[in-house]
Amino acid sequence: MGQPTHRLTRAEAGKRMEALRKEIRRHDYLYYVKDRPEISDAEYDRLFRELSDLEAAYPDLVTPDSPTQRVGAPPLEELSKVQHERPMLSLDSVAGADEVRAFDKRVHRELGVETIQYTVEPKYDGLSVELVYENGMFRRGATRGDGATGEDVTINLRTLRSLPLQLQTAPDLPAHLVVRGEVYMRLDDFQALNRRIAERGEEPFANPRNAASGSLRQLDSTITAARPLAITCYEIMARSGSLPRTHWEELESLARWGVPVPIQRRQCQTVEEVIAFHAEAEAARERLPFEIDGIVVKVDRRDWREALGEKSRSPRWAIAYKFTPRKEITLVQDIVVSVGRTGTLTPLALLKPVEVGGVTISRATLHNADEVARKDIRVGDTVKVERAGDVIPAIAERIVVPGERRAEPFRMPEQCPVCSSAVAREGAYYYCSGQAACPAQLKGALEHFASKSALNIDGLGKKTAAQLVERGLVRDLSDLYALTKEQLLTLDGFAERSATLLMDAIQRSKRVSLERFLIGLGIRQVGQHIARVLARRFGTLAAVMAADRETFEGVHEIGPEIATSLTSFFQEPQNRRVIDRLLEFGLSIEPPVQREVTPGHGQRPLENQTFVFTGGLARFSREEAKRRVEQLGGRATSSVSKQTDYVVAGTDPGSKVEEAKRLGVRVLSEAEFATLLEQT
Ligand code: IVH
Repeated sequence: MGQPTHRLTRAEAGKRMEALRKEIRRHDYLYYVKDRPEISDAEYDRLFRELSDLEAAYPDLVTPDSPTQRVGAPPLEELSKVQHERPMLSLDSVAGADEVRAFDKRVHRELGVETIQYTVEPKYDGLSVELVYENGMFRRGATRGDGATGEDVTINLRTLRSLPLQLQTAPDLPAHLVVRGEVYMRLDDFQALNRRIAERGEEPFANPRNAASGSLRQLDSTITAARPLAITCYEIMARSGSLPRTHWEELESLARWGVPVPIQRRQCQTVEEVIAFHAEAEAARERLPFEIDGIVVKVDRRDWREALGEKSRSPRWAIAYKFTPRKEITLVQDIVVSVGRTGTLTPLALLKPVEVGGVTISRATLHNADEVARKDIRVGDTVKVERAGDVIPAIAERIVVPGERRAEPFRMPEQCPVCSSAVAREGAYYYCSGQAACPAQLKGALEHFASKSALNIDGLGKKTAAQLVERGLVRDLSDLYALTKEQLLTLDGFAERSATLLMDAIQRSKRVSLERFLIGLGIRQVGQHIARVLARRFGTLAAVMAADRETFEGVHEIGPEIATSLTSFFQEPQNRRVIDRLLEFGLSIEPPVQREVTPGHGQRPLENQTFVFTGGLARFSREEAKRRVEQLGGRATSSVSKQTDYVVAGTDPGSKVEEAKRLGVRVLSEAEFATLLEQT
């Protein structure tokens, strides 16, 4: 490892920084291109930290191609348009072996040669980008757009760890190089991202491709920086000097210069070898860490490619040979409606079971009535079902069958399918008005009341909640506290010990914070965050229950919809009765430790405070963190100065932290930042 920073002269530091940049770049290359790392993650982190430390001490020696410079830049107003140097063509596709054989025949005929060598590669399911390198430095990157003009996403692409900002110096490295590649998201990264998004109550991405595209085409590159994107390159679109003789050599040169290229590529001498590669790739598909939707078959020789030429939108020398799609066609046997814990009615399509990408699917959510109407799905229809990542299966579209006789359009029931109470409507959503009288809602409400973030009653899960309701032991939430051990022993799966444990857990739950109690009530739109806001603002349950709509709306972060939901919940006599009974059973609701004292001022506790975020945050998106600061009256800016009050450092924070330390600005970890938000 290098010498401590303070013992180096400026010149020595400069040298060391150059050496570190080179070293880190080499390890990036080994990791991302060769897939053969030589050092552990910890050793890599040490090198990285040494470089960041030096850069903090000598900010004027930081180069734009330094591996530390991947953290994103201030948000843009819009993505500017870029004219591609060469049109970015797309590919014609074929679906089966016979169609590839026909392609091969045509190529043979046109070239009039005996043997044609093909290079075959996976067809990555992402979005296509153009990368421009000048003298080995990454200068510009753009999306494909319409093929002629794309969007400038240079600063966003800079945040991708697998994209080299500087290429390896080599005698044959062209001064001007335009490369084409695919930006994609690994499946595990996609699933983790969607989980984070869903936890925030936002709409998850439908598939890794949409996630990659949505993450790259961002105005705020710090969002891209926090998203796990990867890139692989598969074509040189233009270069100074002459192109290699074959595509295969072209890929080898790219790899030598440090550009990630398809690892699973192969050279084939005959079309039958191509077909065999396709079969192998399709079999390996489920085991690959990223999505591919076929293979690409490319004539290898450059001169033959030129002889074959191009059509207006696609080359004659390459073809996409797709896999059997993961969308399958099946029949809608019925449309049923399920009732959730807050009474929301969700239409579900019951399907004729069909295998989609190795999984049998027999139901698909239709989300809400508007969605059913938009897709016009009716019982008996033929539909295409889709499975992407870990997302619940959805109906992609209806297949129009000419001359078919269709059932009546689907309609939401006027009565709850479980309890027959009247159904109420709010926008696209329908609700059962039965509340606790509806067994479906009561089961859900009970399970939610007992859940970890609410009353935290261990041993009371979905199955037990359902049994308690079905056997009439719980008719409203308060009945929980009247349960006896004998009654629990009558339930399936309960014995002496488990019944005792559950009885204890129920007793323990009687002491509960106001925040958790409010979560437990399961009021629509009132989740963890709003429950906390309410607890802090009102302090006691009585005060929350006494508030009217205007008072709720006057609370920062509570809009008209939440205010309506709160007032109608507390106005409902049945809900008040349940709360009274809970209190009679001895529930002790504790006030929050931190109370807002003066509501008017207390809502802007971060007034005039300036925050800078750097590195990846785990609990918040960058946007959310900024929003939270702004909601509390603070400001979020992008560069550190003496005026900055706090720098919040996530993972891989980069040079801003050092800058903060130099200026004496307070640096907070993400956990400290979260605590600060909680306490203000
Ligand atoms: S070559 C002129 N190679 O597939 C030929 N494309 O359906 C340019 N794609 O728009 C494309 N993996 O985004 C090529 N190994 C690969 C690819 C690949 C994925 C994408 C590319 C293109 C689309 C065509």
